[in-house]
Amino acid sequence: MTSKTLFEPYILGSLILSNRIVMAPLTRNRAGPGFVPGDLAAEYYGQRATAGLLISEATQISRQGQGYQDTPGIYSQAQIDGWRKVTTAVHAKGGRIFLQLWHVGRVSHVDLQENGASPVAPSAIRAATKTFVNNGFFEVSEPRALALDELPGIVSDFRQAAANAIAAGFDGVEIHGANGYLLDQFARDGANVRTDAYGGSVENRARLMLEVSAAVVDEIGAGRTGIRISPVSPANGVSSSDPQVQFDYIVDQLNALGIVYIHVVEGATGGPRDVAPFDFGSLRRRFRNAYIANNGYDLDLATSRLAEDKADLFAFGRPFIANPDLVERLETRAPLAAVDPATIYGGGAAGYTDYPAIAASNS
Ligand SMILES: Cc1cc2nc3c(=O)[nH]c(=O)nc-3n(C[C@H](O)[C@H](O)[C@H](O)COP(=O)(O)O)c2cc1C
Repeated sequence: MTSKTLFEPYILGSLILSNRIVMAPLTRNRAGPGFVPGDLAAEYYGQRATAGLLISEATQISRQGQGYQDTPGIYSQAQIDGWRKVTTAVHAKGGRIFLQLWHVGRVSHVDLQENGASPVAPSAIRAATKTFVNNGFFEVSEPRALALDELPGIVSDFRQAAANAIAAGFDGVEIHGANGYLLDQFARDGANVRTDAYGGSVENRARLMLEVSAAVVDEIGAGRTGIRISPVSPANGVSSSDPQVQFDYIVDQLNALGIVYIHVVEGATGGPRDVAPFDFGSLRRRFRNAYIANNGYDLDLATSRLAEDKADLFAFGRPFIANPDLVERLETRAPLAAVDPATIYGGGAAGYTDYPAIAASNS
């Protein structure tokens, strides 16, 4: 019997990934004026191109979709041009990269919105969370509920952003349906008390996420479309009374759309994997294409979950911050470098592009 290993190629749609290690999306708040990713971003992603697949930091699809300072966008020509440098750097090293498409919904601050507008949400319920703005962490602002006739505009912003991502050279996009941002806010009944076609039932709460997914598939093709979900994560103050029913339904519908992967944050994002009872195997069994598992993985856990066929690909987040050559370190069981918490969000090269590869740090 041959056993699969993390370090062998994997076929994702029409792409050949060089291994089963994925770099999870990581917000680093270093975009330049106009929310354009700069040359440092190209260097940073290029340094990490040995991952089988890189997923970019969350990237707002519109000005309204922004919730943190200095995060990049994908709605202007300058942003597309900036991202092209990133995709060129990754492709030059044989890597593959998807762009994570983001609308934060209520997780924003009036100082980040055009003309100091209120952030938008399924319902006018303020999130119990903070955002990074004005160089510090502050409570998010009171949101306003989106009107029914505004929702098609959000769907078309996602669609256009996906087209822009392809124009910038990305291999595909990941719809951000996780971590308490707009699409997850609609799905969770703790954040969505609407009484129209986008609230109430399981089907109604899934509607916006599925309309966005269908529009992106229509625009760029199912083989280049993935989605991230976090069914039981309390990130950014969301909660659900029925996550298993809700996300079993969502995954059935995503399966019908034929999207290339689901990327599942198992448990509380960056926290306990067993935060609430949930059968992730149910999502795995319902979905015929790739299942990317994330949250708290290390080499041993990923190896055993692969052997049990619980996932196809494994996304690592925090370990990639300080270990640009994470794949090589895992493969050789080399020690991992620790993250400097002071340089995670914002700033320049320090704590971003200056973490050495192990060969360099030994010489
Ligand atoms: C600094 C930082 C930034 C993050 N930014 C994003 C993001 O932009 N999009 C997203 O979906 N998740 C984001 N996450 C969550 C990670 O992708 C990942 O789910 C989490 O760190 C758990 O995986 P890990 O245990 O491998 O770190 C972020 C996490 C950290 C620590």
